[in-house]
Amino acid sequence: MRTLQNRVKEDGIVIDEKILKVDSFLNHQIDAKLMYEVGQAIVDHFKEKKITKVLTIEASGIAPAIMASLHLDVPCLFAKKAKPSTMTNEFYHTDIHSFTKNTTSTVVISKQFLDEDDHVLIIDDFLANGEASLGLHRLVRSANATTTGVGIVIEKSFQPGREKLQSEGLDVLSLCQVASLAGNKVKLVDE
Ligand code: G4P
Repeated sequence: MRTLQNRVKEDGIVIDEKILKVDSFLNHQIDAKLMYEVGQAIVDHFKEKKITKVLTIEASGIAPAIMASLHLDVPCLFAKKAKPSTMTNEFYHTDIHSFTKNTTSTVVISKQFLDEDDHVLIIDDFLANGEASLGLHRLVRSANATTTGVGIVIEKSFQPGREKLQSEGLDVLSLCQVASLAGNKVKLVDE
């Protein structure tokens, strides 16, 4: 997606050889118009597939996911990183390890919002090691629902996330693929 790729090149700040900061439009301040277009691009890719629900994880996955759900006219569900006291009904849970942050969190979704009839499009902001998307896929399987595919805003192609998701048989779309962050420069896959 050319507008997104240009934005990553222009506004992305390389923190180190592995981390790209995109706080001006995705991870802190959100460019709603760009996210609207991101949502449309993801939906266009999966338009022939049956989708009844969009699933993401708080916090930064919510903006692109809600835009995709708006275009699809289906609900957007987000996994919570801590079980809130208000979640009194039964819930599905799984542990997700972040290699980037070196933390493991137990993420939850209420059983009320996912069942075996659901066809789920998973969306996240970054694909690095694939752990967040794999965790969401496990939650979908816990409900005996079906994962239709995975839509990612920014993929770091030098990390193994895509391979891990594809080895699970998942259809992965990413709108901007970063080949390298070496030398303080963002190098995209198709440049
Ligand atoms: P993975 O899900 O692909 O395995 O990624 P990983 O565990 O390494 O990433 C954990 C968190 O760090 C996720 O956010 C992910 O979006 C974010 N992340 C990974 N690589 C980058 C990067 O290069 N730049 C930025 N800005 N974020 C990155 P999170 O902990 O869920 O945070 P948030 O959604 O609450 O913002």
